[in-house]
Amino acid sequence: MKLIAFAFVAILALVQGDSAKQCDLDACKIDSNCRCSNSPSPLDGSLGDWPQLVSLTFDDAITEKVYNDYLDPLLFSRTNPDNNPIGVTFFVPHEYTNYQRVNDLYNIGFEIGVHSITKNPLQSYWRSASEEDLVKEFEGQRHIISKFAGIPVEKIMGVRTPQLQLSGNNSIKAYVQAGLTYDSSWPSLPAKRMFPYTLDYKSTEDCLLGAKCPNEPFEGFWILPINDLVGNEGKECSVVSACRIQGTADEIANWLTSQVEGVRTTTKVPMTLMFNSGWFNSTENSEAGFIKFLDNLLEKEDVFLVSQKQVMDWIKSPVKLADFQTESEQDDPANCDKTKCIVKKGKEDRNFNICTECPSVYPWIGNPDGN
Ligand SMILES: *[C@@H]1O[C@H](CO)[C@@H](O)[C@H](O)[C@H]1NC(C)=O
Ligand SMILES: *[C@@H]1O[C@H](CO)[C@@H](O)[C@H](O)[C@H]1NC(C)=O
Repeated sequence: MKLIAFAFVAILALVQGDSAKQCDLDACKIDSNCRCSNSPSPLDGSLGDWPQLVSLTFDDAITEKVYNDYLDPLLFSRTNPDNNPIGVTFFVPHEYTNYQRVNDLYNIGFEIGVHSITKNPLQSYWRSASEEDLVKEFEGQRHIISKFAGIPVEKIMGVRTPQLQLSGNNSIKAYVQAGLTYDSSWPSLPAKRMFPYTLDYKSTEDCLLGAKCPNEPFEGFWILPINDLVGNEGKECSVVSACRIQGTADEIANWLTSQVEGVRTTTKVPMTLMFNSGWFNSTENSEAGFIKFLDNLLEKEDVFLVSQKQVMDWIKSPVKLADFQTESEQDDPANCDKTKCIVKKGKEDRNFNICTECPSVYPWIGNPDGN
């Protein structure tokens, strides 16, 4: 009887999980892949001795048009102050994505992460999604990218939930089950900029935008906070398009530069900047402004454009400017047997450009292989 009761309690504990505890700064050490959300800044001494890391991130479908009109002219053949190519992270959603282009982005040296299969535009879908549905979205998309863009699955480590709407513990449970290592969906206000941290203990990050934030412990799982920007009329914004900045190319560039300068001169927390093709397409002078902004940034000896993965690597071992090096070019390119398929999604025909044989149907939630 005792044994049965014990087993029952154990199962209950497994199902419900325990609430995360206040972070113990002495127990949570970076050598054991743990960092408290309220740990003091690791950048001791003079701020000038440290690099300012900036991640440009995108979560649009990688279509031929986006690739040719925006990604190629804006991002390719740019280098960091140490002459290595810049790092960028693409959180790739499934629908309309051309996986041959994803393969190209990977081979240039950019980081490929997971966005989701459906990129459902409803906030409520993500906020209240079950663990099971989220596993289908994220594990499914990690599998799709790996299979159809030919990218080794272990290189796909990061994830961004659409609409930045975490569904509490469910999201992180699904991430872990999908084999992912870090999240890039949790915004923090400019008054409380944060360094990346792990979820071994309770997070002290505020829960914004009506999202549900996790509060169970997740050992060694990293949060890369999106430190918000200050947009038009002083309003905080996570996505650059939501900042509603308009003007000449110089005005747009100066605003973007001032957002990085505000951090570079105070805390040097890594910055995650979220761009999308809709902003470039619909905001006048945005492309020219963006180019000037990158030119401004890369003139500074201590600013580096790096992938989110490199931000995570750096915080685990925060080296100073003198020892900091960005990642060099991709030295292990992924193969692509280019195949153009037309496959059915329901009754619709879909173009599906991939690096392997055509599946029977368009891969989708619950059927990532397209069998
Ligand atoms: C997360 O799990 C903890 C512990 O079981 C529970 O107290 C909390 O309500 C859950 N929160 C969310 C948002 O899922
Ligand atoms: C840009 O906007 C136009 C008009 O709204 C649209 O037709 C076009 O497909 C868009 N291009 C991209 C790359 O989003």
